[in-house]
Amino acid sequence: MLTRKNVSKTFAVIGDPIDHSLSPNIHSAAFRELNLDCSYIAYRIPKGELKEGIESLKKIKINGFNVTIPHKIEMMKYLDKIDESCSIIGAVNTVTNNEGILKGYNTDMEGFLDPLKKKKIKIQDTRILLLGAGGAARAIVAGFAKEKAKSITIANRTLEKANNLSILAKKIGLSSIPTEINKIENLEEFKIIVNATSVGLKNEQSPISLKSINSNTVVYDIVYLPMNTNFIKKAKEQKAIIIYGYEMLLGQAVRAFEIWHGVEAPYNAMKKALLGGF
Ligand code: ATR
Repeated sequence: MLTRKNVSKTFAVIGDPIDHSLSPNIHSAAFRELNLDCSYIAYRIPKGELKEGIESLKKIKINGFNVTIPHKIEMMKYLDKIDESCSIIGAVNTVTNNEGILKGYNTDMEGFLDPLKKKKIKIQDTRILLLGAGGAARAIVAGFAKEKAKSITIANRTLEKANNLSILAKKIGLSSIPTEINKIENLEEFKIIVNATSVGLKNEQSPISLKSINSNTVVYDIVYLPMNTNFIKKAKEQKAIIIYGYEMLLGQAVRAFEIWHGVEAPYNAMKKALLGGF
């Protein structure tokens, strides 16, 4: 009689650029910790080649994959099933493959909220300043709506995108004010300031001056490489409460792991692997 053997499973992260992704380190560390017969690879799929890329992943019977820049929004088209987390945000970062049926989830929103919750930072009835209005900012707006923030000021270089994201915020019940990033003032009004622009990735100066914040302000940068962006350094000078981009990266990875494997993720092993990657 044939006995069913343990079949090894394969996972991936797709995007472009992808060679500096830390997701393979994080997930591989979790497999080792829990003795799982799984592997996780980084697979470069350039913009415009997503359809073919997905077909090849299906051919190798990939068990699941993460999606990153620039495919998070376009990937929605190739899903057979859409979890609620994904439909609200309009972007996907985690996919399961069940015998050719692709189901999409978005773990960025909960991943973003995780470090705020761990540090017991109150969100309800607070005023938020969000810098940026791209794909990542959408998940963040959904997170603040879920946690019932009082209002969110969305400041972006391109005002039109801030306007569009503000419409989404209002639709999901969060009062919102769109503005241009260089018109931001009165920072002392805000309890939490988040950088969701890509400014910092190339060691640029902070996108705004943080001179008027104080030690009660929470400053959260979602850029995780370098770990100490100029934005974070300026916040530290004001003795603000800091949340690093790696904390969100870890939060979304933990949740993706739990969706794929149905067991609690080994948080500490994953964190150690991530910090070793810097
Ligand atoms: P992601 O998926 O990481 O959010 P994205 O959708 O490309 O990436 O969004 C990048 C964000 O960074 C946008 O808000 C962008 O502003 P624009 O909408 O005006 O393009 C912002 N951004 C990028 N470079 C910037 C810069 N030099 N100064 C200010 N904002 C910048």
